[in-house]
Amino acid sequence: MTLAGKRVLLIISGGIAAYKALELIRLLRAAGCAVTPVLTRAGAEFITPLAVQTLAENAVFQDLFSLTDEAEIGHIQLSRAADLVVVAPATAHILARMAAGLADDLATTLLLATDKKALVAPAMNVRMWQHPATVANLASLRARGVFVVGPEVGEMACHEFGPGRLAEPAAILAAIAALLAPEGPLTGPLTGRHAIVTSGPTQEPIDPVRYIANRSSGRQGHAIAAALAALGARVTLVSGPVTLPDPPGITVRHVETAAEMREATLAALPADIAVFAAAVADWRVAQAGGEKIKKTASGAPPILELVANPDILAEIAAPGPRRPRLVIGFAAETEHLTENASAKRQRKGCDWIVANDVSPATGIMGGAENAVLLITGDGAEAWPRMGKEEVAGKLAERIAAHFARVASPPPSGEAAEREK
Ligand code: CTP
Repeated sequence: MTLAGKRVLLIISGGIAAYKALELIRLLRAAGCAVTPVLTRAGAEFITPLAVQTLAENAVFQDLFSLTDEAEIGHIQLSRAADLVVVAPATAHILARMAAGLADDLATTLLLATDKKALVAPAMNVRMWQHPATVANLASLRARGVFVVGPEVGEMACHEFGPGRLAEPAAILAAIAALLAPEGPLTGPLTGRHAIVTSGPTQEPIDPVRYIANRSSGRQGHAIAAALAALGARVTLVSGPVTLPDPPGITVRHVETAAEMREATLAALPADIAVFAAAVADWRVAQAGGEKIKKTASGAPPILELVANPDILAEIAAPGPRRPRLVIGFAAETEHLTENASAKRQRKGCDWIVANDVSPATGIMGGAENAVLLITGDGAEAWPRMGKEEVAGKLAERIAAHFARVASPPPSGEAAEREK
């Protein structure tokens, strides 16, 4: 990904996740983006100005009333010189100050004075995140056009579990890239290509209040959608029910059931690339009741008859005029990973399969990391365990390299000649 020539004003506020801002700066610099860092007083309690300045290769600004800072650039100019203002991590406190329009330090003054888009990456304790005050502040910021990436669900530094963890730096980078795209999608090796990505679980109703679902978080699929967009693709994300925010710059179709996912995916065709990361329920209840199922006097539990759901991947991977040029499936397995996934690739007719071991001990299903085996026509390749955003970035790069290799595609559908 390149962000060459772009400038980000990065405000680092005071939370334990501030250390991750250093990695974000490193990623931005590696992408060629200039970073002007602003460290709040609380932020400087967690990371040092020297570390920030060294990685950013740029002076760090801290004080609204600093004669040197003000003489050097001036806060109004500082707020406007960037292409995008990013707050990462954004604490509950800075979000509250933004929502209230306060300007009581350099960071909030810049946020009030800027004429550029702003992206916030919240990070805080789960109770603070769920507090009605924070919820209201976020809603008012969103209504004003502030973009939000994360937070993610996971274990926090305070050992509580839930939403509130800072989005991974790679995910923040992808959100920045999408927002800095000249008009909608970013220009990159996948510019001009349309990608469909399915993500998350599906929910199959039993009755109006109960459903069958699975543990998929959607994190891997959403990250793939963002990574493809960051490489310039136009992306349609078909998402089952997840707690993740919609990735910026991407068309998102929200669905609940497998049947709805199939419909939305077919409606999004034609596409050059289709990635099926969703954990689609294989079965649904044959006759989902219109009324809540009540307990009977005898106490006998209801017997649910299940019927098979349509296999969306197999249907779209079947040869035909609307088959995307590159169809990638996922294989969630708990045993015989290579054999089962290779067989699944053949059976479903997809070009590549991303296989992963979802045994509970791996912590992959619903977790932050993934260890995948990429199976293509050339064989199987094991990737080391890494963050789901990194897997997404690596997969997107592989997809771009594939299209660079096969050069100009034949009209969709002439894919009888399978992609390698
Ligand atoms: N898939 C799909 N539609 C379905 C079921 C699965 O599109 N109804 C896709 C998934 O998105 C994934 C791939 O098929 O890309 C494999 O899903 P998986 O659950 O691993 O395979 P199953 O077909 O369910 O096979 P099994 O349960 O026997 O492992």
